[in-house]
Amino acid sequence: MLQGKHILLGVTGGIAAYKTATLASLLVKQHADVHVIMTENAEQIISPIAFEALTGNKVIDDTFDRNSGYHVAHIAMAAEADVVMIAPASANTIAKLVHGIADNMLTSTMLACTVPVYVVPAMNTHMYENPVTQDNLKKLTDYGYRVIDPATGFLACGYDGKGKMPEPEVLLEYILQEAAYEKDMAGKKVLITAGPTRESIDPVRYITNHSTGKMGYALAKNAMRRGAEVTLITGPTNLEPPLFANVIPVETAEQMYQAVDAQFDRQDIVVMSAAVADYRPIHVAEQKVKKSDDAMSIELERTKDILGSMAARKKNQFVCGFSMETEHMLENSKAKLEKKKLDMIVANNLKVEGAGFGTDTNVVTLITPTTTEELPIMSKDEVADTIFRHIMELL
Ligand code: CTP
Repeated sequence: MLQGKHILLGVTGGIAAYKTATLASLLVKQHADVHVIMTENAEQIISPIAFEALTGNKVIDDTFDRNSGYHVAHIAMAAEADVVMIAPASANTIAKLVHGIADNMLTSTMLACTVPVYVVPAMNTHMYENPVTQDNLKKLTDYGYRVIDPATGFLACGYDGKGKMPEPEVLLEYILQEAAYEKDMAGKKVLITAGPTRESIDPVRYITNHSTGKMGYALAKNAMRRGAEVTLITGPTNLEPPLFANVIPVETAEQMYQAVDAQFDRQDIVVMSAAVADYRPIHVAEQKVKKSDDAMSIELERTKDILGSMAARKKNQFVCGFSMETEHMLENSKAKLEKKKLDMIVANNLKVEGAGFGTDTNVVTLITPTTTEELPIMSKDEVADTIFRHIMELL
């Protein structure tokens, strides 16, 4: 996803520098061209050889290295980068950046840099909370640097507090958010429903389905990375909430209905990928649940059709639903598209291998009132990308 992108990592003298090696590796796996500049202190903590082996590029640590491979290295490296991340950023380097001190390869390059620079402070809690560091971080933000808040936890110095470098997977999300896609959905407001819903039968049991939320979360990430303002209304899942979305957790179909109802009117695009539990127990409190030693019966009622009721009141929104079918997939899905007056339906055939719940792949057909396009087996990320590409073409 970062094919053709130059990512410049600045590594300074903090213990967390070892985690930056993992970040470099994650970036390479995304096909980025990763370049690393280290300060002298960083090399006390981790060898440049680790970064060179992981990235295939020479680490630059000396402004006056005649074998850097660059013509005026600090200017050339600043110019070729698409995104810069300084991780860990020590209090010392932060202070230098604030004052425009250019006394090493990293700080000199930063003065010449015009692209987004993320600064990831990581240090002892007292150093981080020191008013000097806090002032410096505020000034860095004013100068246009993007400061990522440290996490709270156990620190190498033995303290438990704020100052921990976020995990490499989290830092990767920031870079993907910035550089993975063209921002063709900038200015669009997108609402996505995801995951299963859950209906309690009694304090112990509930009705649900096998949805893991993977498809909906992939849709949310794709739209976010393309610049959209994303609201994700999600039933219970085991997935990490996406960092840059407005995430609204819900449990029941009724809660999902209320949340969608409150958000719908301000949206441009609505994609309902949640597997809403179609039934719920009627008036659980009053109902006489028939129970014996070997059986239990309970009366159920249909939950509100969220997709149908929203599509019925749509104005300019593009509304896309999903359909899960075990037979007559095309006919049933086309009928749903027409009946609910949808702009698109993404049809899943649950009987096809690699499709449906839990898997990392999906096999879907995109149906609009005038077109039917069968897609091959793809990762859920690719399916999400294709869905939004189609929607953007139709808007
Ligand atoms: N959906 C919804 N509200 C419900 C049930 C489903 O909004 N109470 C949405 C899902 O998010 C999905 C679409 O409706 O986008 C289709 O879900 P599906 O279960 O395939 O269809 P149903 O309309 O529930 O019809 P049936 O179960 O009879 O096939």
